[in-house]
Amino acid sequence: PAITYVLPDGTEKSVDVPVGMSIMDGSVRNNLPGIVAECGGGCSCATCHVHVDGETRVLFDEPASEEKDLLEFLDGADEDSRLSCQLIVTDGCEGIRVRVVDSSS
Ligand code: FES
Repeated sequence: PAITYVLPDGTEKSVDVPVGMSIMDGSVRNNLPGIVAECGGGCSCATCHVHVDGETRVLFDEPASEEKDLLEFLDGADEDSRLSCQLIVTDGCEGIRVRVVDSSS
């Protein structure tokens, strides 16, 4: 499915991310800026922070307690926040938009 990443500078980039990969994987594989993914998808670094609007959020599993704990203490996190390594792409994700937070600084 085509996923649109709204990058930290406001530009949008649509890339095809295979089903079963995470939103984080899709960004890293395409060398998009913002998502650092220091822990490589282990749900422990929180440098894969994205904002996902309500309509899109329901396409993904609810955050597990590890993810919730990390988000609770993350700067700039709000109710739209997710860790993108925990967002697994399905066919239903065609055309969604995720807003990438710059985790590189
Ligand atoms: Fe580290 Fe997502 S890549 S928490």
